[in-house]
Amino acid sequence: MKIDRRQFLGYAGASLTASQLVGCSRSRTDVDGVPRSNFDAESTADEVTAGIDLSGKVAVVTGCTSGIGLETMRVLASCGATVVGSSRSLERARQACRSVTGVTSPVQLDLGDFESVVACAETIRSLNTPIDMLICNAGYLGGGNDRELINGIEKHFVINHLGHFILVNRLLDRLFAARRSRIVVVSSRTSYTDAPEQGILFDDLEFGRNYGDLLAYGHSKLANVLFSLRLSEWLRGTRITSNSLHPGIIDTDIDRHFNAVMRFGLKIVAAIAGKTIEQGAATSCYVATSAALDATSGAYFEDCNAVIVGGHNHLYNVPMAKKLMQVSEQITAEYVVDQEPAHWKVSRL
Ligand SMILES: NC(=O)c1ccc[n+]([C@@H]2O[C@H](COP(=O)([O-])OP(=O)(O)OC[C@H]3O[C@@H](n4cnc5c(N)ncnc54)[C@H](OP(=O)(O)O)[C@@H]3O)[C@@H](O)[C@H]2O)c1
Repeated sequence: MKIDRRQFLGYAGASLTASQLVGCSRSRTDVDGVPRSNFDAESTADEVTAGIDLSGKVAVVTGCTSGIGLETMRVLASCGATVVGSSRSLERARQACRSVTGVTSPVQLDLGDFESVVACAETIRSLNTPIDMLICNAGYLGGGNDRELINGIEKHFVINHLGHFILVNRLLDRLFAARRSRIVVVSSRTSYTDAPEQGILFDDLEFGRNYGDLLAYGHSKLANVLFSLRLSEWLRGTRITSNSLHPGIIDTDIDRHFNAVMRFGLKIVAAIAGKTIEQGAATSCYVATSAALDATSGAYFEDCNAVIVGGHNHLYNVPMAKKLMQVSEQITAEYVVDQEPAHWKVSRL
């Protein structure tokens, strides 16, 4: 049977639909030692932060111009935090910042351009303020099943993982400067529904074999979870925590590279099993601000609660997380710094 390109893209949309619905059916159990919240999939970001005063706190939100990032910035600023929000376009970041009430500061950041990540970190550092919350939210999802490389590495992995890897590294001493601080990595359920069976493809980071957008996106989102997991171990005993999360399935601009058929597929999933944008930002805001999570690090959250996801997955694979850190550091060696007193050079650990 011959499948033309249009049909294939239709199947990709359908496969996203199917995988996300299958993801819903996975077993999830509570994580020992992490308090269970009274919030759930229907809670909004405003609800999870009700009564929380973030005056004097500084948050950095990557990808503040639309969807979950914009709502996260709006809600954190409404609680009194100063929010630094990023976009690839400084003008779009300015517009987003102007659209919310509170104190915000726009910065330019293209996670696919490591020089831009370094420049963004320098801009944020020049504010000379501790950072209380670093929310690695920005994300890219392709839509044409055309593999793209950035400096020889597959594009989703570069933007969604390596760009944030450098940003966290270069802001780490600013996080240490806060009394307590949190790194929040916005991942996705695709980290276990759509990532490669064997996990991170250390021998094929250019994704030369079996490329698919969803597979590459899931691969990068698995890297998000493992990065946070490894950071949490490395930061144990410090005042910085690191957690990752799935925000839910939300009809945002994440489908900007999809064709009409795929967009329709995502809309169906969002309508059946999805959330509003206000609900979609709830888990990020909860993990960034809840006092109940002061001591929680290394957990993966869905619907405002830390969960252990059942079935085959690599979300809790510590050796894979260690290797990911080493490999990421090798790839980005020119751009990461040896932070004193934090001593970020994870491969030495
Ligand atoms: N929506 C969902 O159903 C869903 C599900 C699971 C996980 N997520 C995750 O949630 C996060 C937010 O996604 P969203 O749904 O809110 O999508 P969105 O509306 O498309 O927002 C993505 C944000 O990322 C920024 N961005 C895109 N490419 C970038 C790059 N190369 N460098 C820097 N910034 C970049 C965009 O800003 P500019 O275009 O202005 O640069 C935008 O502000 C992502 O990490 C996504 O993977 C979303």
